[in-house]
Amino acid sequence: MLKGKCAIITGAARGIGKAIALKLASLGANIVLNYRSSEDEAKIVAAEIEKMGVEVLTVKGDISNLNEVENLINTAKERFGIIDIIVNNAGITKDTLILRMKEEDFDSIIDVNLKGVFNCLKSVTPVMVKQKHGKIINISSVVGVVGNAGQVNYAASKAGVIGMTKSLAKELGGRGINVNAVAPGFIETDMTSTLGDKVKEEAKKNIPLKKFGTTEDVAGVVAFLASEDSKYITGQVINVDGGMVM
Ligand SMILES: NC(=O)c1ccc[n+]([C@@H]2O[C@H](COP(=O)([O-])OP(=O)(O)OC[C@H]3O[C@@H](n4cnc5c(N)ncnc54)[C@H](OP(=O)(O)O)[C@@H]3O)[C@@H](O)[C@H]2O)c1
Repeated sequence: MLKGKCAIITGAARGIGKAIALKLASLGANIVLNYRSSEDEAKIVAAEIEKMGVEVLTVKGDISNLNEVENLINTAKERFGIIDIIVNNAGITKDTLILRMKEEDFDSIIDVNLKGVFNCLKSVTPVMVKQKHGKIINISSVVGVVGNAGQVNYAASKAGVIGMTKSLAKELGGRGINVNAVAPGFIETDMTSTLGDKVKEEAKKNIPLKKFGTTEDVAGVVAFLASEDSKYITGQVINVDGGMVM
């Protein structure tokens, strides 16, 4: 389905990003695997991808730093000559109620989750406009749609990602570039592993499918948005949340 395509995935050494990298590779895409600090995990994922018979390029870089993002995009372009797909997945949380939230708790989340995605969009857009095609997939969150107590910073960043997705879809629609967002609900990763059992059980009561999602659940939807099957879809936010938000 994605044979010979070049796909960049940010934050692909663990969690949802790792599952996306493995899924796209299994469909034949060559993978540019970005990580920030998880070097050992990145090497393990890269080795797994190589076994699938596709090419993999591992690039260290902090997405909140525009120079490092430009290096990521340029390195991918030099190696593969084309960038068909970018999945802006990397993200962080620093949850606390606003009464306790420090200015740096807000700024650091915005720097990575919002400015980081902007840096990727800014750097990849000229390449995709020149080649006249591309699939941009931004990982937002249902929290960016409905909000969540204790996540003012995170919700603002993820709502911002949805705004950027829709704006860019309107800017780039005439250039053969699709821009969509995926909004996961509760997915089992390191990010949600810190939630207590009581919180998890309460959360499940509000999910019609009565369970948390897996990283593969998100990866499957990303694969669809990266493929030609979604060629008439742009500017959309697809929730992968077991029906939690509808
Ligand atoms: N899990 C959920 O329930 C859930 C729900 C909704 C949305 N999401 C979103 O899904 C995405 C992935 O989440 P996850 O659950 O897989 O999280 P995770 O397991 O905590 O992994 C986060 C990933 O982001 C990378 N990252 C963080 N800061 C970075 C930076 N400045 N530059 C480059 N990479 C950076 C990390 O790389 P290193 O380890 O190399 O530092 C890591 O690979 C995030 O955008 C998150 O907000 C998750």
